Formats: sequence, structure tokens, C-alpha cells
Amino acid sequence: MRFQTARPASWQTCIACGNEVVETDPHPRCVACGGLLEIHHRPPAMSPAELIQRFTERRGGQPGATPSGVWRFRDIVLPSADSVVSHPEGNTPLLHRVALDRWAGIDHLLLKHEGHNPTGSFKDRGMTVGVTQARRIGATAVACASTGNTSASLAAYAAQAGLPALVLVPAGGVATGKLAQSLAYGAKTLLVRGDFDDCLRLVEEASDRLGVYLLNSINPFRIEGQKTIILELLQQLAWEPPDWIVLPAGNLGNTAAFGKALREAREWGLIRTLPRLAAVQAAGAAPFARSFAEGFTERHRVKAETVATAIKIGNPASYDRAVQAIIETEGVVLATSDAELLEAKAAIDASGVGCEPASAVTLAGLRQLVRTGQVKQADRVVAVLTGHILKDPGLLLRYHQEIEPPPPGANRPIEIDADVREIERVLKSTA
Ligand code: F0G
Repeated sequence: MRFQTARPASWQTCIACGNEVVETDPHPRCVACGGLLEIHHRPPAMSPAELIQRFTERRGGQPGATPSGVWRFRDIVLPSADSVVSHPEGNTPLLHRVALDRWAGIDHLLLKHEGHNPTGSFKDRGMTVGVTQARRIGATAVACASTGNTSASLAAYAAQAGLPALVLVPAGGVATGKLAQSLAYGAKTLLVRGDFDDCLRLVEEASDRLGVYLLNSINPFRIEGQKTIILELLQQLAWEPPDWIVLPAGNLGNTAAFGKALREAREWGLIRTLPRLAAVQAAGAAPFARSFAEGFTERHRVKAETVATAIKIGNPASYDRAVQAIIETEGVVLATSDAELLEAKAAIDASGVGCEPASAVTLAGLRQLVRTGQVKQADRVVAVLTGHILKDPGLLLRYHQEIEPPPPGANRPIEIDADVREIERVLKSTA
């Protein structure tokens, strides 16, 4: 007689060789071939309508609601987690500004503002799941390489969980707000004389050698948390998907997470149609856009250069998962110049919304897609703003105070003597 063991709630497989490992395996990559791992969940044991009903009941404002916009979706994120490390996070707004519709050239643009998360970026959604998993497997310390936001988020969640955190960032290559957060939340912060790609290589080596749990987005539990950007925005749109979702692309963890969220949402009957993903890179850091233009026949690595330091990445780690996401959603990958992304950022900031430089590639990229006719004026588009305006005050102050000649959006401050006539003089001269 054969006994059939029931499938566990979740398990991991290697996307390269298919090797299957248990959910609690602590290796960040496949031990057989070094490929990227992916989490699988047993399909939910309820109808799509029941699942949607459950998510609705847990939404903020309802009695008995789950305060986290990540754990509200726990049935399809990490169903077996019993005790979670949550700030809480998520519950970010979908914003609309007519000025930005006009700027992009479409009728209705929605902005999903992930800068409203507790540490000011979307990374908190992946980190609540990653650090919860770190605790479940008994990790004694956690680590990541970062362009600044992952490290800020890891530092905060590790502090909450009482775990020592080690972060590696490029020396001189991280925006002030992000570095300040990592120091303040108490992470051991190493400023590496090299770029992000060097940091990632180093931290992978070190975590393996020192037995520290790696929490970069190659870690598949991070991806599970980041899926909730999509789940939450679909919930906000009453499970009617938009035509396009536009997002910035650096290390490609988010592109991978969006693809997985959409694939599963369709498989499990939460949505019927798939929106198209538009992944936007900075032109000086666009190896993925180059591969896309060549039909993904080759993976590229570049020496990255851009003012958007968050996405200054030349050898994106989640390449394979992201290719799948773009192909499955009939997506596109494009790049915008630093001048274009700064112009878009100035428009987002001046609309009162505000975001960090990397987030603004979405609006710049969208305008390009509208001009080339790929996005139609009446298409429903959601752009994901990934980080808060205060993440990079250094760039803001340079843009508004220092660049000569002043860019069109520059808002120069005016120094005056402490005399009311001075105010009058200024107001008259600028009227
Ligand atoms: N936007 C912001 C604000 C980011 O911080 C990042 C990545 C991205 C977009 C790109 O997302 O890497 O998933 O393609 N920041 C990482 C970090 C690399 O270390 O904070 P991705």
C-alpha cells in the first residue's frame, strides 16, 4: 500500500533546474545549480469570491482588519507563518493628479505610492516577509547589499526582530536619507569601495561563509512580500486590472514579483486579464532594456551610471525571473535618460506628490510609450512610485539650488535680510 503525503502549504523550487526544497531551507539559491529559487503555494482551498471576500474583510477600516497591507494577503504570501515581524506596512494610496495625466499624455494615470511605507520605500513589503522567515528558520543574523532602500528597510525590521543586521553599500553611492536610516536603525554598515554589483557579490560570499541569512531580493521570500503591491492595487481597483503597470527596474526583484503576482492572481481566479508590465531603467544602467531589444537572446552586464542611485545596477540578479514576467505579460522594457527622469521627477514633485529619482523613470517612460503609440491615450495606467521624496535630499537641493543654468523646474530659494520690506521687494520682483 502506498501512503500519499499531502503537499505542504508552500515549498521552493529552482527556476533553472527544477530542484525542490522545503519551505524552511535557508539557502538563498539552489544548492544544486546556483539558480534562483521560487516559492510555490498549494492553491487556496476556497473559491476566488471567498478569497476576495476574506481580503475585503481584512482591509483597513473594517472591524477585525489586519493592519498590514502585506499580511492581509497572507493566504497567498506565506500561509504557514504564525508569528510575523510587521511594522505594519503597505496600505499605500493610489493617487491621481490631472497635471500628471497631461504631462504623460493620457486620460487617467494612477500613482501607487510605495514611498508611504514605514521606511519610505516598497522594500518594507518584502522585508516583513523576509525577516519573518529569518526568525522562523532560527537565523542568528541577517545581511544584504543595497543601493540604500533595502538596507534601510532591513535595518528597521532586523531591529524590530532583535536580529543583528549587516549591510553593504557602495561608498559615496547612497542617497543621504537612506544611509542615515541604516545608521539610525542600528545596522552594521559597511561602505564598500566599489559599486552595488560588487556589494552583492561580496555579501553572497560572506553570507555563505559566515552563515548569515541573506535578504537581498534573490531571496524568494522577499518576492512573496513584494507581490502585495500588485494584490493591493488590484484590490483598490475592485479586481479590475488596468491595461498597463509601469515600474522602475534595477536589480529586477520587483519586476519578478509583479509577474508572479499577476500569474498567480489569474491562475487562482482573482483576475481574468493580465495587465502589461512596462519596466523602465535609467539609460546608463539599462542591461535589461538592451536584452529586451534583442529579444532576450543574451544577458548583458554594464558599468552602471545614473543620478538615480537606487537603480544604478549593471548586473541585475533577478534577470531570469524578470524575463519570464515580461514575456508572460507581453510587457516591454525601456530606458530613459537622466535629463528625462529629472524632468519627470520635477513634475511629480511639483504636483505635490513627490518621489525619489528612481521612481520618476515611470512617468518619463510612460511619456515615451505614449509618444511611440504603444500606450493609447485612453489606456488605464498605474505607475508605481517606489520611494519617498525625502530619500534623496542631496539631489533635490542640487537640482533646485545649484545647477547652472537652472533647469526649467528649479525653484531657487531667496535669502533676505530680516526686514519686511525685503519680503515686499521679493514678491514684487517675482510677481
Ligand atoms: N526604486 C527604488 C526606490 C529602489 O530602491 C529600487 C531598488 C528600485 C526601484 C528597483 O527595484 O531592484 O527590484 O528592480 N533598490 C535596491 C536597494 C536595489 O538596494 O534598495 P528592483
